[in-house]
Amino acid sequence: MAHKVAVFRKEHFNAAHRLYNKGWTDAQNDAVFGLCNNPNYHGHNYELIVKLVGEPDPATGYVIDLKVLSDIVKEEVIARFDHKNLNLDTVEFAELNPTAENIVKVIHDLLRPRIDSKLELTVRLYETERNFVEYPA
Ligand code: NI
Repeated sequence: MAHKVAVFRKEHFNAAHRLYNKGWTDAQNDAVFGLCNNPNYHGHNYELIVKLVGEPDPATGYVIDLKVLSDIVKEEVIARFDHKNLNLDTVEFAELNPTAENIVKVIHDLLRPRIDSKLELTVRLYETERNFVEYPA
């Protein structure tokens, strides 16, 4: 009988960012973003959890080879964002405010084309131990 199983891969990257809306005044940005609007940036240790749901392949017993998934995440996410300033060093956030909400969707959309369309993909991103987001909701 077909049955779906969820598999997870956890990865990690460090990155700096600044949250601000360039259409706003400094006072508006300070009021909304507070310390996150520090002009000299600040860093986070991001934890990333990639979840795939699908039916295990009858031949291998795998939903996906987790080494393959790890390599995809390293190529698409870690190589792109680890030890980067998201605002200054990446094309993805040159114009997009690098909030956790925006980062998690960018990561999802980078991974989606690399993963079999039969598998459901959900990405969870921890910006701190207590603040985390998930996409799709
Ligand atoms: Ni921050």
